[in-house]
Amino acid sequence: MGKNKPGVPPETSDPGFAAGKTAAMPGITHPERYSEDDDRDLSLRPQNLAEFLGQASMKENLSVFIAAARKRNESLDHLFLIGPPGLGKTTLAQVVAHELGADFKVTSAPALDKPKDLAGILTMISEKTVFFIDEIHRLKPAIEEMLYIAMEDYELDWIIGQGPSARTIRLPIPPFTLVGATTKAGNVSSPLIGRFGITCRFSFYELSDMEAILRRSAGILRVSIDDDAASLLAASSRGTPRVANRLLRRMRDFAQIRGPAAGGTAVTRSVVEEGLSRLEIDSLGLERHDREILRIIIERYNGGPVGAETLAISAGEAVDTLEDYYEPYLIQSGLLQRTPRGRMVTALAYEHLKLPRKDHENPGFLF
Ligand SMILES: Nc1ncnc2c1ncn2[C@@H]1O[C@H](COP(=O)(O)OP(=O)(O)OP(=O)(O)O)[C@@H](O)[C@H]1O
Ligand SMILES: [Mg+2]
Repeated sequence: MGKNKPGVPPETSDPGFAAGKTAAMPGITHPERYSEDDDRDLSLRPQNLAEFLGQASMKENLSVFIAAARKRNESLDHLFLIGPPGLGKTTLAQVVAHELGADFKVTSAPALDKPKDLAGILTMISEKTVFFIDEIHRLKPAIEEMLYIAMEDYELDWIIGQGPSARTIRLPIPPFTLVGATTKAGNVSSPLIGRFGITCRFSFYELSDMEAILRRSAGILRVSIDDDAASLLAASSRGTPRVANRLLRRMRDFAQIRGPAAGGTAVTRSVVEEGLSRLEIDSLGLERHDREILRIIIERYNGGPVGAETLAISAGEAVDTLEDYYEPYLIQSGLLQRTPRGRMVTALAYEHLKLPRKDHENPGFLF
């Protein structure tokens, strides 16, 4: 593209954004695990398949595979979970263990530094354990190799001795179910993918599922939420349960501060309207950051196409953050497109931001 020089501060219509300043509650609709609240409210995490709402067809298939494995008294086949952050990959892994009546063991790829880290876990697990590896796209090659044999033969290759006298022995391990989760399926090697028997691809949740999730969470948090409020909040939650739960907690705060006279812990439409506007979250669940990304493409690149790296620099974000956290929902909402030539906004983005389209022959800036 060459239109944006690295190191040159981006000119956006919101200098606060370029300087890294954000709204009063930054990133609240962003599903990364930044909030301690998420961990505090473990009670919100579904324990079994019945409580795990939405993702109907995926759930239906899984319940068949689980029932069949139980009937054969075998471990479930290895399970690969793909999807953007906050959609329920960790939750589902835990639910699967619960439904199988099996132990649950959690780790993440970056924590598996040396082969002995993996061997230490796999030699200690009980039979049929659900072994969850988060961020599986980040496995080191040596660990990945070791995992292949563990997944296929329930054995570990273990080297004893050093130098020329070193030899490999195979240690048996209990049959187990590996659950690998990733937000970046494209970065997982095909030999690893090929060893998973079941693949679940998460999609953003439907509005009706989001409403059901909000109602369930409101019940657990002991706040009432009316239908209007639930549908408004569902629409602003980016099809992501983690975001819905986070927004619900903030709405509970707003409701509480308004005091008992205004309904106390009742999350009503007016509480949600006021709360969302205070948090600068719009009707599509976009925050200032999201709108700025669209605005940058429109105002600086005439709507695109613009390369991901150039866009990331202009927006003051890392490319990974742009691709993992911002783009999936913008694309899902029909506001942004990934094309071979770069990112482009859609007509809907102009409409949503109420910005006029520029004449392509006369882009309005000179370089
Ligand atoms: N299907 C669901 N029904 C109800 N609540 C859900 C569902 N899926 C997820 N949640 C809620 O959303 C929260 C986030 O889910 P989870 O931590 O499993 O996401 P994740 O996909 O593992 O995210 P990450 O990629 O960041 O690890 C959970 O704590 C849970 O409360
Ligand atoms: Mg997770």
